[in-house]
Amino acid sequence: MNISAGSGSTAPVQEVNPADDWKPTSWQDFPALQQASYPDPVALDLALKKLAELPPLVTSWEILSLREQIAEAQAGKRFVLQGGDCAESFAECCSPLITNRLKVLLQMSLALVHGLQMPVVRIGRFAGQYAKPRSSDVETRDGVTLPSYRGDLVNAFDFDEASRIPDPGRLLEAHKYSALTMNFVRSLADGGFADVHHTEYWELGWLDHSPLADEFHKLTESLGQSLRFMETITGRDVGSLKRVDFFTSHEALHLHYEQAQTRQVPRQWGWFNLGTHFPWIGMRTADLDGAHVEYFRGIRNPIGIKVGPGMDKGWLAALLEKLNPCREAGRIVLIHRMGEAKIEEHLPPLIRAVHDTGSPVLWIADPMHGNTESTGDGIKTRRFRKIMGEMDLAFEIHRDNDSRLGGVHLELTGENVTECTGGARDLSDEDLKRDYKSTVDPRLNYEQSLEMAMLIVRKHRQGV
Ligand code: PEP
Ligand code: CO
Repeated sequence: MNISAGSGSTAPVQEVNPADDWKPTSWQDFPALQQASYPDPVALDLALKKLAELPPLVTSWEILSLREQIAEAQAGKRFVLQGGDCAESFAECCSPLITNRLKVLLQMSLALVHGLQMPVVRIGRFAGQYAKPRSSDVETRDGVTLPSYRGDLVNAFDFDEASRIPDPGRLLEAHKYSALTMNFVRSLADGGFADVHHTEYWELGWLDHSPLADEFHKLTESLGQSLRFMETITGRDVGSLKRVDFFTSHEALHLHYEQAQTRQVPRQWGWFNLGTHFPWIGMRTADLDGAHVEYFRGIRNPIGIKVGPGMDKGWLAALLEKLNPCREAGRIVLIHRMGEAKIEEHLPPLIRAVHDTGSPVLWIADPMHGNTESTGDGIKTRRFRKIMGEMDLAFEIHRDNDSRLGGVHLELTGENVTECTGGARDLSDEDLKRDYKSTVDPRLNYEQSLEMAMLIVRKHRQGV
């Protein structure tokens, strides 16, 4: 059956019914990496049954609307900004943190809209980003070995047995915290950001520390002027948003959790993951014959695929064939995360191979995950210079290969933490000891995030 999702779109999304050899449980016949091992299967079953009965977090029409917007981005008419924590935590599901995270994403998106002269699709890494892949199933400290921390969806970070044993009750807790986050995001998006379009209220003290201070001051001035101009001619507060103006995303890692939220809805064919708008497949679980790819094959959400230096042309082309056999627009976002040192070698052949498949994709850059390193003191960090270096190269490589970089995927927070070094204030390894909060990957702080948005605009103006 062919349908076109929504109306009034410049790029109608044509979808074709997926193979009927799929159901939400099909993945269970395939090898599933990175899954938690629950000691009490009866308790797990009960939690999953309850989860499957709870109301969904998002709706099918929001998901289809995002598909259309991604199709437009594939056509060069939109830019995607995806960002948020590496991992959310239950403890940090609170008003100021959510507000600040939304605020920085909104401010970055306004800078991008103004600088790139095109609409920006805002996708948060939130309201469900609670599961983490780990390099080892266990962690050993001082001779004691316990299960690794797999994110608040599975267990707790503290290093003791009670905390680390996977607890199925957390699946219901995660759903609750996601719903609370979603509810607050929707309320804020409905008008809680009256001051965001007034750049004079932005925290821009860092600008003066940047070697590009003059240029950045001019950019914020012209941004402020254009926002005020828009307001005057439309008579509307341009900071006011419509409900679906923020989409949610998370790595769909814990397949039982995702399965419980995979539903059919009235007057629509097929299956939707109603736990998030935009699930993505992580680097470690993109095996062609693995359970994750099998799960993603059957849902109608737009999906992200992380593409690292270990992925070759054949693998990527086969993933596209499996996950988007009918070559539908708006379905696939490829999130490359190569690292500054590897992107020049690894990305161009992949761009050409994808082009040769004729399958439509949106390429976006994750300049965070290929640039993680440890300081002399063993603190996990990322250097702003390398993050931006990979971003710059990504723009250039796409341009030189007749492709287009259509977005950015960042780990960031609205707080002024000290987790990544560099940026306008030139944070040092020593500064990392001051305000390091992440239990997983280091994030850009408020100032570094805004600076990144401005540097992307600058790069774009230089003609890439
Ligand atoms: C992540 O996005 O937090 C992550 C684990 O990324 P990747 O799968 O690209 O390593
Ligand atoms: Co991460």
